[in-house]
Amino acid sequence: MAHLSEETTARARELVGLYPHRRSALIPLCHLAQEQDGWLRPEAIEEIAALVGLTPAEVLATATFYDMLHTEPVGTYMISICTNIACMLRGADDLLSHAEESLGVAAGGTTTDGMFTLEEAECVADCGRAPCVQVNHRFFGGLTADSFDTLVEDLRSGRLAADVPPHGTLIRVRRNGGLRVGTSTGEVASSTATEAGEA
Ligand code: FES
Repeated sequence: MAHLSEETTARARELVGLYPHRRSALIPLCHLAQEQDGWLRPEAIEEIAALVGLTPAEVLATATFYDMLHTEPVGTYMISICTNIACMLRGADDLLSHAEESLGVAAGGTTTDGMFTLEEAECVADCGRAPCVQVNHRFFGGLTADSFDTLVEDLRSGRLAADVPPHGTLIRVRRNGGLRVGTSTGEVASSTATEAGEA
């Protein structure tokens, strides 16, 4: 029985069709499977491999190269606290210690309810709002211990569900087709409308 849902598989086939070479869809398909399961399960890796014409080992080798792809289970929300220089100078180490205490896990761990994985991160490129935290690739800056706790509570209660999709879904708007040269000036234009509101 297939592991990827019918919907995920249909979307995967659409994505494969956007590229001249099937294997070029590898990373988007990994994100798609992660969107479904929260991490790249071995069954999903096998099906992705079949879809793009690679071996499961090749898919896994690629996936393990990228921090944004998880080859082991992680929490619904991946909280990444930057402790690089700008954030460190504005209290990131204290913030990380507070996060470990309030969540009850050391950096690298996942809460027992499976809601949060905490990690210490290098610069997440939001230095102007240090100290910064990324949650499923969404940015939160200028955090204090109190505002961190509020953020966690908002995530736990679902109040941020519209802003921070579970499992790190990357996109808010999906494109339906590829690119084409569509203007007299030779400008490259998007070929189709987008589906606003999709995460
Ligand atoms: S140093 Fe923390 S976001 Fe750049």
